[in-house]
Amino acid sequence: MNEQLPSEESAREADRTDVFPSRRDEFHLLPQAGGGEIAYLAGNSLGLQPKIMRGRLEQELDDWAQLGVEGHGEAMRPWVSYHELLREPAARLVGALPHEVVMMNTLTVNLHLMMISFYRPTAKRHLIVIEDSAFPSDSYAVRSQAALHGFDPDEAIVRLKPRDGEFTLRTEDILSTLRELGDSVALVLLGGVNYYTGELIDIEAITAAGHEQGAIVAIDLAHAAGNVPLKLHEWGVDWAAWCTYKYINSGPGATAGAFVHERHLGDKTIPKLHGWWSTKPETRFQMEPVVDEPHSADAWAMSNPPILAMAPVLASLEMFDEVGLDTLREKSVRLTAYLESLLDIISVGRPMRVITPRNPERRGAQLSVQFDNIDVGPLTERLRSEYGVVADARQPDVIRFAPIPFYSTFHDCWRVADALAQLVETR
Ligand SMILES: Cc1ncc(COP(=O)(O)O)c(C=O)c1O
Repeated sequence: MNEQLPSEESAREADRTDVFPSRRDEFHLLPQAGGGEIAYLAGNSLGLQPKIMRGRLEQELDDWAQLGVEGHGEAMRPWVSYHELLREPAARLVGALPHEVVMMNTLTVNLHLMMISFYRPTAKRHLIVIEDSAFPSDSYAVRSQAALHGFDPDEAIVRLKPRDGEFTLRTEDILSTLRELGDSVALVLLGGVNYYTGELIDIEAITAAGHEQGAIVAIDLAHAAGNVPLKLHEWGVDWAAWCTYKYINSGPGATAGAFVHERHLGDKTIPKLHGWWSTKPETRFQMEPVVDEPHSADAWAMSNPPILAMAPVLASLEMFDEVGLDTLREKSVRLTAYLESLLDIISVGRPMRVITPRNPERRGAQLSVQFDNIDVGPLTERLRSEYGVVADARQPDVIRFAPIPFYSTFHDCWRVADALAQLVETR
């Protein structure tokens, strides 16, 4: 143990006395080789499995086994309208009106579907602004969209970089870049919380600045949904998309979400790729050849809902409703601040530093730690195999730690710091 750290017992005491009644027992914690539990700090990559999931999936499998096709109408939760069940709880998580949200597909697919509608470049206005540290899938998606419209991706994509010697973007710099680019910007697509640095951007200010230039402003909420409070409708964001397997704990590849601001709903001049779920439910089975779009984000849905990929999302959203995102956020702020304080202690004299913003308002549950001249892959592996700490490495030089308010503890945070103190030599 590192003698500068507070005692292990004090971390356990913080867990015993915290005002939030932990929901840890409701999740499958990973067993540690040799006994005990893994300290799981990778819920920003894949959330742990809530114990209710198996029963919820079995319910759908039983309905399928016993009802066959009749399950569309007669399953306990009828499949034909299953996605409707997800709409309101999902809208609450992202601060949207219910009809602005549709749960469908996977995240990158939704990014593309939204860009089909909202990236309609002209010779003059065709730039897409993203963060330089955007997740690669977003980067590939925007580059391929620019190419689809005949533009050179190297010219059409503007990548926002932090100032020299800094790790995260300053809002004032984002706003001034948007002003400089002016009416050449067609689309601003930024991560609400950046996957690499953990920075929570000022979505409201950036949306207003993008709109001043006549651009569409879109947010990838992969690392923000279920993590931080959001007000997409009030902030006026044009569209957003997110996955549900990180903070929303719905399992690998579970059904994703999309938001389209009310101001764009019902606008039939916006091009969309249609399928039979893009038409109004009341006329869907009249089998007409021409789509009859609803006045909702469902106009972007295409296929019938994938029940086995949606059942976990519904179950998880119910857990969020039970606890409330505000309560989770309060616990999250406490856990993250505690982890930060420990990482600060052990960073002294070691080649490592937290690069996530210090201001709790500008971050969610994740702290990214950057290391000098240390290969983060093997270090992450040793954290797991020798100390039972699961985090994830992101090349080139960062390990991300995310204490998740549903199931992480102050003691988990202590284990992170204690393990790093032992594995990373002082300079
Ligand atoms: C910011 C961001 N965008 C896009 C993706 C890709 O998601 P999917 O594989 O669900 O399309 C991820 C996945 O981690 C992500 O973190």
